[in-house]
Amino acid sequence: MRRPFVAGNWKMNGSRARARVLVAGVCEGARELPEVDVGLCPPFVYVTDAGEVIGDAPVRLGGQTCAGVEYGAFTGEVSAYMLADVGCSFVLVGHSERRMLYGEDDAEVAEKAGFALAAGLSPVVCVGETLAEREAEQTEATVERQLDAVMDRLDRDALARIVIAYEPVWAIGTGRTATPAQANAVHAFLRERVAAREPEVAAGVRILYGGSVKPDNAAALFAEPEVDGGLIGGASLDVGQFLDICRAAV
Ligand code: 13P
Repeated sequence: MRRPFVAGNWKMNGSRARARVLVAGVCEGARELPEVDVGLCPPFVYVTDAGEVIGDAPVRLGGQTCAGVEYGAFTGEVSAYMLADVGCSFVLVGHSERRMLYGEDDAEVAEKAGFALAAGLSPVVCVGETLAEREAEQTEATVERQLDAVMDRLDRDALARIVIAYEPVWAIGTGRTATPAQANAVHAFLRERVAAREPEVAAGVRILYGGSVKPDNAAALFAEPEVDGGLIGGASLDVGQFLDICRAAV
């Protein structure tokens, strides 16, 4: 049985004060949810504050991205080692906003995943098709290409440490979610791709769904056998909504 994982991706929202309040609220709720891995990805500048507020509460800290290089003259970048140093245990790589707005390609996402693993973090590898790709029946080809680029670089032990997030681009921030059946089908496909490389690893890899997950649709999505939790954008900025979504994963 895979342990559910629900992570909030705040994107570039909030303030230092609001971050602290939000984290404190999530910590309180997470203490009542020992069955679920609850995670938060604040903007970089609030990660240390978030870690301080988390203290010994059962909430995992994550980065929203990391550099595809180790250290050095890369103005504005934050390395996976730095994220680990301030208490992160996971990091998103290849979020569609990074791919579309900042031109990250599959090769760069794979580099990031590699550095995340080297730093001791679990990369949450985000994959997902655009609406045009779905309409052209390119969903599987797209997510397969995105996942393969990362898996090509990983040995069996590394593969066992990744998390996959399926986030159809057309469902992010649009209020339009994949149906539970649509999500499950893509998750099953992704798991098969992992199984084609490492059959024993595939059953344990967690595959999260992201894209307009809200308290009123979370339970139906999480009830699908291949959906192991969620990556939550907008609703993670509201403690009550985020915790309701976390509870739906039990
Ligand atoms: P929304 O939940 O706001 O659609 O965002 C999803 C997402 O991109 C999480 O990474």
